[in-house]
Amino acid sequence: MGKGTIVMAYSGGLDTSICIPLLKERYGFDRVITVAVNVGQRDEEIAMATEKGKKLADKHYTIDAREQFVNEYVFPAIRANGSYEGYPMGTALARPLIAEEVVRVAMEEGSHSVAHGCTGKGNDQLRFDFIFRMAGLEVIAPIRELNLTRDWEITYAQEHNIPVTVAKEKPWSIDENIWSRSIEGGKLEDPAYHPPEEIYGWTAAQEKAPDTPEIISLQFLKGVPVALNGQAMSGLDLIRTLNVIAGKHGIGRSNMIEDRILGLKAREIYEHPAATVLLTAHADLELLTLTRQELSFKRMVDDRWSELAYMGLVHEPLFLDLNAFITRSQENVSGRVDVKLYKGSCRVLGRSAPEGLYSEELVSFDSGALDQCHAIGVSAYYGIQARMNKKK
Ligand code: ARG
Repeated sequence: MGKGTIVMAYSGGLDTSICIPLLKERYGFDRVITVAVNVGQRDEEIAMATEKGKKLADKHYTIDAREQFVNEYVFPAIRANGSYEGYPMGTALARPLIAEEVVRVAMEEGSHSVAHGCTGKGNDQLRFDFIFRMAGLEVIAPIRELNLTRDWEITYAQEHNIPVTVAKEKPWSIDENIWSRSIEGGKLEDPAYHPPEEIYGWTAAQEKAPDTPEIISLQFLKGVPVALNGQAMSGLDLIRTLNVIAGKHGIGRSNMIEDRILGLKAREIYEHPAATVLLTAHADLELLTLTRQELSFKRMVDDRWSELAYMGLVHEPLFLDLNAFITRSQENVSGRVDVKLYKGSCRVLGRSAPEGLYSEELVSFDSGALDQCHAIGVSAYYGIQARMNKKK
């Protein structure tokens, strides 16, 4: 009598593929169900995962979660100016959704066990584990538990007729979703190593970008983008289109040393053209529409939000509290931002907002709408304690 059915998050890569026979041979499960979640990886990647899952597992699901990913994870990240140590998070945003889909399948299939193919060194293991444990399921992570090495995995895969696609000379580990693409591993693990041009898939090199700049306009409604160049679009279409446009101009590359959740520093390369443009435009629109008090407080909120999102702690009560604050803060963050894209740079040219807090009439040197003499009284009190203080 075996252990029944286990449901596993499946990418089609080497790690998750060898987990299928391992879960049977080493852990005693009778059936392995694989779940590939489409959060905007390349079409070929999803097709490959679907084909391999169907061939290797007892049952396979491919779930298209792209719209949900954009609306429930990317949009909140835009409202929160979500970035971790200076780059727009991507992988971190997608993991909870992938895990939730695996949990949903496990419930449907009546399974109490779920698995992932993460190693014991990265962030993803913790992001998956958190969602799985929230649902009260048993978590199995063969790669982490069995301390497997790449070479052992390749041999085991060959013995089990699992096609191995990792080429020895291009050993990059790539994780992609609609919001960003991350590349790590191989020679990139030396932080001094200069990333070769071949690792980039979404962005042109600065020197290969067009010599003519492109000016685009973005329309936001309550903190999220709703139109590009005057054309209303779904978030998914808008981000997809903008990735192509901004990527062509070489926008959105990060070469990071980042602090992982467990404390290890890691070297990682990211591409995020649409994210860079949207986050730049959104932050600019907030400067026009939020009060000074809101802006300074929200910077702290955004930082805490980003840290929790990076950690995958999306059910942490504080995260929900922060989301409530952030959503309320975006009530007036609607308007238009014009951005110039040119050889890797993205600069705001102009912005307008119906609920903007800017008044040309009040601030203009040429207008008499405010009586300047009123400032004389303010000035009499201004900095009075500092002026009285005689400390040396
Ligand atoms: N360091 C990033 C994170 O933890 C991305 C990790 C996945 N990247 C990869 N190339 N497999 O969010």
